[in-house]
Amino acid sequence: MPTEYSSKNILQSLSILNPELALLIQDKCIFFEQTDSTNTQAKILLSQNKANLNGTILVANSQTAGRGRLGRSFFSPQDTGIYLSVIFSTIQDLYENDATLITPKAAVAVCHTIEKFSSNKCQIKWVNDIFIQKKKVCGILTEGNINTSKKIIDYAIIGIGINIQPSKKEIPQELINIVGNAELFELDKNNFIATLLSNLFEVLKKENDKSVMDEYRNRSLVLNKIVTVISSTEKFEAKILNITEKGHLIIQRTQNNPQNLTEEIFTGEVSIRM
Ligand code: BTN
Repeated sequence: MPTEYSSKNILQSLSILNPELALLIQDKCIFFEQTDSTNTQAKILLSQNKANLNGTILVANSQTAGRGRLGRSFFSPQDTGIYLSVIFSTIQDLYENDATLITPKAAVAVCHTIEKFSSNKCQIKWVNDIFIQKKKVCGILTEGNINTSKKIIDYAIIGIGINIQPSKKEIPQELINIVGNAELFELDKNNFIATLLSNLFEVLKKENDKSVMDEYRNRSLVLNKIVTVISSTEKFEAKILNITEKGHLIIQRTQNNPQNLTEEIFTGEVSIRM
């Protein structure tokens, strides 16, 4: 009998794996059989000014309006994916002001978790996509509110969507060559999520720890590659020379750049031919 997918069973797995974290999350794990988007639900909760939302986890078995970066939608069918959001509502828990590192750190935590439950090796496409065998298996959408006057992050919502076994039949035609499958050995999603949460909180705790970005670079699909950079104003070809400690890209345009100048970018996205 498969274990029921529920907040109770996620917390039970977590209490074995990481009792301290289970204590932080205990009454704050919300499970939806279906919702529009766990990130949207997290924002609604935050707008209600409830006390102590830090560490709240929202998990859904399916989403009707899953959201991705740059206004895209995220395909979130029933049963075959993991869709969750985590709320961090105090800067203390984001450890310093490493806002730009939240997504790269979360990507490393997802890679560790998938690799614990699968024989596949994960790679990261800057900034937020996890790939296995050239197909996307996970996307991360981090949304937050930066309080510029106090120079702190009021809150961050880390939304993670992982395709674990989508059937070819249900994947929309336009996504058929894009959506991958994490091919997990064990399909106890409760245990998978408990492991993911434990890895995520551990990696977010690390301050000034070079190993996280070293690993991010080692797993990069774009480092030293020629890619198309897509910003809000232009689209051009460039070589990715480095990924900085802040998770920014150092790029060099391949055209109209006789002096081989380099640029640092931290928004937009890159596309690479697989
Ligand atoms: C991307 O691919 O650009 C990011 C996708 C992020 C999807 C997850 S699923 C859980 C959470 N809720 C959402 O609506 N989006 C994130």
